Amino acid sequence: MTTLDLDVGNGSDSSTASRNGSGAGSAGAVKHDLADLALAGGSALFDVPRSASSLAAPDIERFLAHSRRFFDARRYTNTGPVAGELERRLAEFHEVEHCVTFASGFWALVLALRALALPGRREVVLPSLTYRRMADVAQWASLVPRFCDVDPATLAIDASTVEPCLGPDTAVVLAVHPIVNCCAVDEVEELARSRRLPLLVDGVESCYETFHGRKVGSFGNAEVFSLHASKLINGFEGGYLTTDDGDLATQLSLQRGFGFNGHDNVVHFGLNAKLNEVHAAMALANLDELEEQVADHRRRYHAYRRALAGVPGVRLLAFDETERTSCKNIVVELLDEWPLARSLTLEVLQAEGILARAYYAPALHQKPTAYRTIAGHLPNTEHLAERFVLLPSGSRVTEADIVAIAGLLRFLATSGDAGALASKSETAPGTVSTTEGPP
Ligand SMILES: Cc1ncc(COP(=O)(O)O)c(C=O)c1O
Repeated sequence: MTTLDLDVGNGSDSSTASRNGSGAGSAGAVKHDLADLALAGGSALFDVPRSASSLAAPDIERFLAHSRRFFDARRYTNTGPVAGELERRLAEFHEVEHCVTFASGFWALVLALRALALPGRREVVLPSLTYRRMADVAQWASLVPRFCDVDPATLAIDASTVEPCLGPDTAVVLAVHPIVNCCAVDEVEELARSRRLPLLVDGVESCYETFHGRKVGSFGNAEVFSLHASKLINGFEGGYLTTDDGDLATQLSLQRGFGFNGHDNVVHFGLNAKLNEVHAAMALANLDELEEQVADHRRRYHAYRRALAGVPGVRLLAFDETERTSCKNIVVELLDEWPLARSLTLEVLQAEGILARAYYAPALHQKPTAYRTIAGHLPNTEHLAERFVLLPSGSRVTEADIVAIAGLLRFLATSGDAGALASKSETAPGTVSTTEGPP
């Protein structure tokens, strides 16, 4: 049996000592035996849980400087100076003509789907192995989700998985990038164009990336991103859409503000999905520091690569570093020789203060919904939905934490008696509550 001895002090580390502050709490628990696991009553590896969310914290003075502009002008919302600047900066960042900000990525998706869907048709084709609430997005847009399978290499849709799902009732295609690298968005774009179908891209987890050298943000009719605190660009909450279609941008910017064009002049069906100024100030402050933050993500990713090398039964998903890539999300596949079920693995990790999450489970077509969905046979999705785990990363995770997490995985790989652990899990405490975001 392997012993996990992790006396790594107070969680600060040398090379990944983040500009955002060192990790909170300590990794000091020693695991000689399964009985030492927190699930079995031992002390947890981390007293303050380590999150998979980005939780980027920019220099507070930068945030305050951006905030002062709207505060002094008493323009707190309704697309004031800061949200306006954010839209300009994000359009430039994604190399597109227009950016429209929203209160969340969710509402940006809903409004964009509604706007793009071909009239008289009802279905949106989208992956099932994706963001947990994506079927709700379709339902809010009054569309029926038709789920397609994914390519096992990218964990995402491509033209060959979308094409069989297209039919006379297809109103729009929703391509979603996975959380490591990109989907084959160029071939989906070509397919949609050849079938005269609108294409919306969810680039929420890929806002920094390029695909074949082209900036994500400029594919399809439009792309949608999130500014949630768990994402690369943290605006506390928020979202945005990028497009080269000026009419679409105008329509959506009116709709997010109740459909008003000037006082009491309602020109569109609308709702209130505006990004307020304080969220825009936070997003701008993080955008200012994005390159440094990505450098930190890259250092953490490489620390994981070193620490997980040789851990049996675990495969770290590799970022394609020939492209521009954020290296933000750390995902491992539990291979056939891994001794524990994924659900039990997550329980063990969470009890240790490692807020690992299933990526993604259950798949959307396997979840009961209060509304209609359509799915054929999705063998890749069902297989893959059992295998992946998202590990802690982001601004509060240090290199010492990564060594500790990898050490625990190594310990489990060599000592993880599934039967013994399963019996301990029945008496274990529940999961920790945090400000974790999706995916
Ligand atoms: C892929 C994906 N799309 C959309 C969303 C929704 O974004 P928001 O949280 O800003 O509403 C999320 C949220 O995590 C997501 O992961």
